[in-house]
Amino acid sequence: MSDALSYLIKARPEAMGHYFAFLKDAGKHLDPKTRALISVITKVHSHTERGVRQYVRRAIAEGCSGTEILDALLMAFPALGLAKIVWAVDVLLAMKLPQFDPERMGAPTWQELGQLKSFPKSKLQKIERVDRSVFVYRDAEGCRVYDAHCPHQATNIPLAALKGGKLVCPKHGWTFDAASGACIAKGDQPLRHIESKVEDGRLLALL
Ligand code: FES
Repeated sequence: MSDALSYLIKARPEAMGHYFAFLKDAGKHLDPKTRALISVITKVHSHTERGVRQYVRRAIAEGCSGTEILDALLMAFPALGLAKIVWAVDVLLAMKLPQFDPERMGAPTWQELGQLKSFPKSKLQKIERVDRSVFVYRDAEGCRVYDAHCPHQATNIPLAALKGGKLVCPKHGWTFDAASGACIAKGDQPLRHIESKVEDGRLLALL
């Protein structure tokens, strides 16, 4: 959040509360990816680099690919114009995110997370990857894979945030059940589930 918004929340809490309630209500019928893409476009339109960086990370945490983010910007060409789109692409390139590596763009592919036997039952593990960090939880039914980025503001939640079967995001305290990914306190969205499968004794995820 910008310093100006933080200031306004302190100086005019009631008015700003209505403003944020309006924003939340206005997007309630949109899926999270669409909401995130619209937010990226608004940050490019207002020419705020910090906002673009924050909302691009959030869009990726919501499951948007680099191609989808670029397509959203290009579709907004009539409103943004070429200069702002070129500026935004410079910001994206400076972020050095693998999602915008031309060689890796496109549809998600099955990626190996490790040998199934390396994931003990009833234990949460984190796999740190360059492109996307994930949590893996294995129980009697199999493995479940979750995006390690908080659905609130895309914080990469560390394994140290695990406290007695609950993951507590260090940024604002949204709390998730480690086994199911459900949000059980503070927030209102679960960890994003990632499709996975076991092949030849290896755990693969669609990343
Ligand atoms: S980023 Fe806000 S609770 Fe995680």
